[in-house]
Amino acid sequence: MTRPDLHSFADSRQPRTRHLDLKLDVDFDHHILKGEVRLVLQNRGSGPLDLDTKGLTIRSATAPDGAAIPFELSEEVPILGRCLRLTLPEGTEAVTLSFTTSPEAVGLQWLEPAQTEGKDHPYLFSQCQAIHARTVIPLQDTPAFRVTYHAEVTVPEPLAAVMSAGPSGTRAGPGPGTRTFLFDMPQRIPPYLMALAVGNLSSRDLSPRSRVWSEPQTVGAAAWEFAGVEEMIRTAEALFGPYEWDRYDMLVLPPSFPYGGMENPRMTFLTPTLLAGDRSLVDVVGHELAHSWTGYLVTNATAEHFWLNEGITTWAERRILQALRGEEEAILSWAVGEKALATEFERFGADSPLTKLRTDLSGVDPDDAYSSIPYEKGARFLALLEKTAGRPAFDRFIRDYIGRFRFTSITSEEFLTFLNEKLPGVAESVGAEAWLYGTGLPANAPVFRSRALEELAELASAWPTGTRPSPAQVAAWRPAEMLIYLQKLPRPLDTASCDWLEENLKLSSRGNYEILVEWLCIGASSNYAPAFARMREVLVRVGRMKYLRPLYKALGAHPRTRALARSVFAEASPRYHVLSRRAVEAVMEKYPGETGHGV
Ligand code: BES
Ligand code: ZN
Repeated sequence: MTRPDLHSFADSRQPRTRHLDLKLDVDFDHHILKGEVRLVLQNRGSGPLDLDTKGLTIRSATAPDGAAIPFELSEEVPILGRCLRLTLPEGTEAVTLSFTTSPEAVGLQWLEPAQTEGKDHPYLFSQCQAIHARTVIPLQDTPAFRVTYHAEVTVPEPLAAVMSAGPSGTRAGPGPGTRTFLFDMPQRIPPYLMALAVGNLSSRDLSPRSRVWSEPQTVGAAAWEFAGVEEMIRTAEALFGPYEWDRYDMLVLPPSFPYGGMENPRMTFLTPTLLAGDRSLVDVVGHELAHSWTGYLVTNATAEHFWLNEGITTWAERRILQALRGEEEAILSWAVGEKALATEFERFGADSPLTKLRTDLSGVDPDDAYSSIPYEKGARFLALLEKTAGRPAFDRFIRDYIGRFRFTSITSEEFLTFLNEKLPGVAESVGAEAWLYGTGLPANAPVFRSRALEELAELASAWPTGTRPSPAQVAAWRPAEMLIYLQKLPRPLDTASCDWLEENLKLSSRGNYEILVEWLCIGASSNYAPAFARMREVLVRVGRMKYLRPLYKALGAHPRTRALARSVFAEASPRYHVLSRRAVEAVMEKYPGETGHGV
């Protein structure tokens, strides 16, 4: 057995899938997809073919001539799911599997109409990274094996389907009141980037190659918020080379979407919490767009090299930001990242193996290993290489890197070898081995400072002495400065302090969710009752784990806020995405046990 990826049953000695022909019938009544997939093999093959499945019911497996192909499902293996072993007859070029997903598929969230903006229609979306594609389709679910795909998705009218692919038209569906949407992804992508969403969707064009999709109620706001996307694409192209994926479309999802953004090719998925009303959160689009080079033009070969995706992309995102909005804005973004990194080192411990860039994930679920460390430590590693090589040389290196590895999936070692080849001596002089294979943050990590940051830090630390920002100061802050100021305030604060913040900074009515949630965390850890109602609203509405985790954590500080958290969770959790629910449960497990009276 030769498995290139410990999170997949895929075996490199067996035939490889190169293309999928997919048919999906979306059943909102039963929360299942009825599917058929034709796996087209790279070369004609025979013998065992091991596929990944999780929660799937396999109804049949057939060869192109219609003959049945023997198959067997293994026992459930923790984290991985069940191995589907097909035994291919001599000269097999393709296999067709028919299957049904489970209503509990982690890769899918089925929303009731009440969870949507319009409240009239149900909604479905997928989220397959890192290893959930196997809960949707039986396949070789490793980024090491890339595929192209064609899909035909049948949905009840008047709903529409979008996928991480080019749209190839629609036709009347097989049943009454159904419509079939056709898609083609002609470029090879890792299977975790297969993505589907179905709902009452409308769209607005933003440029000849970009449009935004969302429910009709939010499409105007979304089009305004992301109007600058074409400029962003051009800026990214100037830095990293031509955009290779034809269109760059975006879908703004309902608020239960568990991430801020997901770089599904040709159709970035975004949380509606980005609709701040002032374009202050578009850096998330910059990040997802940057993945079009450093994420799926070049992809990590396995989840153990996740930093190659996220670290390089975070660095790239900040280069785009700097080009568009200047050095000062980029430094603020690095500072926000610094705070995230410090929080993670606290959560895991600075010597935890999960603080390595190149991780060892045997026995570890990638969802449990997920943190800001690959993002922020990885981005700092890139910034250090950039500083050491000099920007012009490093920019050439990044373009060479993308050119050399485009449409492939690589390891940290391949990155390092290429670095040594193109920028000899740089890796050694920065201690690249310690960066990749060591824990914590190396002492030569670049630091990002500015006068503005120092002032914010001074102002915040002087809070206990009664120092407050003046209205003029506050008015001049960029949104990121407001966020950093709040991050740096001591906590808990007393009620009068919270009152002051709310009155003067109008924090509970902020449209920028980064600022809003930071404030609510201050309020939660300060047991500040006037903000409880807003906390409840946010926690019931929003499923983004980045916000749920810190807010539920902050609510753990007092018996009264713990009671609030438990009551909100009881109300909200049936509608949370499974991943969000698990993330919150992990936080609440750490709450101190309530003793109560007389116990
Ligand atoms: N690809 C990630 C999201 C992801 C990672 C989903 C791993 C599942 C497993 C995406 O590009 C991302 O990083 N999103 C961030 C936003 C970003 C600006 C840091 C998020 O969702 O917060
Ligand atoms: Zn990312």
